[in-house]
Amino acid sequence: MKVLGIVASCRRFGNSELAVREVLLEAEDKGAETEMIRLTDYSIKPCTGCMRCVFKKVECPIDDDVKLIHQKMVEANALVVAVPTYILQVAGILKMLLDRSMNLMFNEPRLLVDRPAVLIVPYGVEHWQGVSMAEGSIFLLSLGYRIVDSFCVKCQGPGEILLDDRAMARCREAAERLLLGDERGKEGICPVCGNSLLEVVDLRVRCPVCNIYGHIVIEDGRLGVRFSNVENHRWTPANMKRHFEEEVFPSGARYLEVRPLIKKRLARYRKGKLEHGKEEGKDQG
Ligand SMILES: Cc1cc2nc3c(=O)[nH]c(=O)nc-3n(C[C@H](O)[C@H](O)[C@H](O)COP(=O)(O)O)c2cc1C
Repeated sequence: MKVLGIVASCRRFGNSELAVREVLLEAEDKGAETEMIRLTDYSIKPCTGCMRCVFKKVECPIDDDVKLIHQKMVEANALVVAVPTYILQVAGILKMLLDRSMNLMFNEPRLLVDRPAVLIVPYGVEHWQGVSMAEGSIFLLSLGYRIVDSFCVKCQGPGEILLDDRAMARCREAAERLLLGDERGKEGICPVCGNSLLEVVDLRVRCPVCNIYGHIVIEDGRLGVRFSNVENHRWTPANMKRHFEEEVFPSGARYLEVRPLIKKRLARYRKGKLEHGKEEGKDQG
């Protein structure tokens, strides 16, 4: 068993890194091989939206370290990711990596499907976690991972997590769940992503991450949700395949049909220079 730890914070020995290190140390004690990477040590350039990976099924032409990071993810049997909350969301570097990882969502066979993963989100101020747990879950689920444990940890300054014995114990428990593939660690309302974020749609509620619907129920005086289509959530391999084959891949040919009209209408906007005096660049079409 090989466990990869991904740290998505610039802070060396910050809370995210220490959480990952604790999970990996425990996993090592239990016999696993481990490796930790800090995303900020690697070059991760933004996705340019060229869609070549999707429509032409070719390797991403961007020259940076993303392929190397993907290789490490593929080589590991399990993953722990720790990412801090920044302005109610995950730190941007994780999203930068995800945007560059579309190929892992549709390539056959999908290499990361069903691998166990743990998500840890350090945050600084009570009730300021925002949507960071949901975003971290999207990173894992969209790539095919199965979340076995996910939790937020309140810790503000670098290293403060070390003063929180419960949080550190939770990291060690998470290691055990990773190795056993035991999903009972998830705490939130949605049984798939483990988040408590809900949308209200007509008279039902919906998990916006997993696209499952349910009704609010009160059981033993506690509010809960009874979901109806848990097995058919957004991230199942069959639904991801359908999404790409029916919604994403055909959009290329459809776009080419309307492209001449768009080009005509674009002329009006091509005149003049950009604000800062740069010439207009070549468009992606
Ligand atoms: C740019 C920035 C934005 C932040 N935004 C939030 C926030 O919205 N909510 C919150 O609870 N903490 C916020 N924090 C605090 C971090 O989440 C907290 O310090 C965390 O422990 C950092 O983890 P790290 O040591 O792994 O980097 C922010 C920190 C930074 C640097």
